Amino acid sequence: MDALTKDGSIEVICGCMFSGKTEELIRRVRRAVIAKQKVQVFKPHIDNRYAVDQVKSHNGLGFDAIPVACSEDILKLTQPDTTVVAIDEAQFFDEALPRVANELADSGKRVICAGLDLDFRGEPFGPMPALLAIAERVDKLTAICVISGEPATRTQRIINGRPASYYDPVILVGATESYEARARRYHDVPDKP
Ligand code: TMP
Ligand code: MG
Repeated sequence: MDALTKDGSIEVICGCMFSGKTEELIRRVRRAVIAKQKVQVFKPHIDNRYAVDQVKSHNGLGFDAIPVACSEDILKLTQPDTTVVAIDEAQFFDEALPRVANELADSGKRVICAGLDLDFRGEPFGPMPALLAIAERVDKLTAICVISGEPATRTQRIINGRPASYYDPVILVGATESYEARARRYHDVPDKP
């Protein structure tokens, strides 16, 4: 990669589920396309909710994306003339994602990542804390709490009509059938130590 170009940067869009992260990522990507930038969008292939080769927002917006197994694949598949690299569902990637994002940004690319800052337990999710720390720009979006109508910052996991235990596995791909947006006060995690 061209080490002389130093104008790259990392942007992170984070927040709870249903806060519009993917919608905002798609908005930025579409604007980049209008500006005749070469854009590549990546997603972890674990997220097969709506489509394998698209990033999809809950309100139905979509954009073509390359599903990858690990963050190293993003480096391998990014083409030299790509100027904007967008990564959705960043929380599902391995701990090498911040290094990968840094390498892309150091080579002059604009890196846009979207992901959950917190898991259903209310704890930092995967590589997101490190990514947030190295980003030039961070936007933390809120959803609307389904209980109170206040801004929601947490994601409630519901299993069989009840709040999921702290000891549930962290990864459970899903949408409204398993998750709700909640304000801090209404976020309930039974068995939390
Ligand atoms: P979204 O932020 O684009 O709505 O998608 C979040 C995805 O992450 C969705 O498939 C559900 C999944 N998820 C987990 O696997 N574990 C969690 O703790 C939470 C909150 C979400
Ligand atoms: Mg999303």
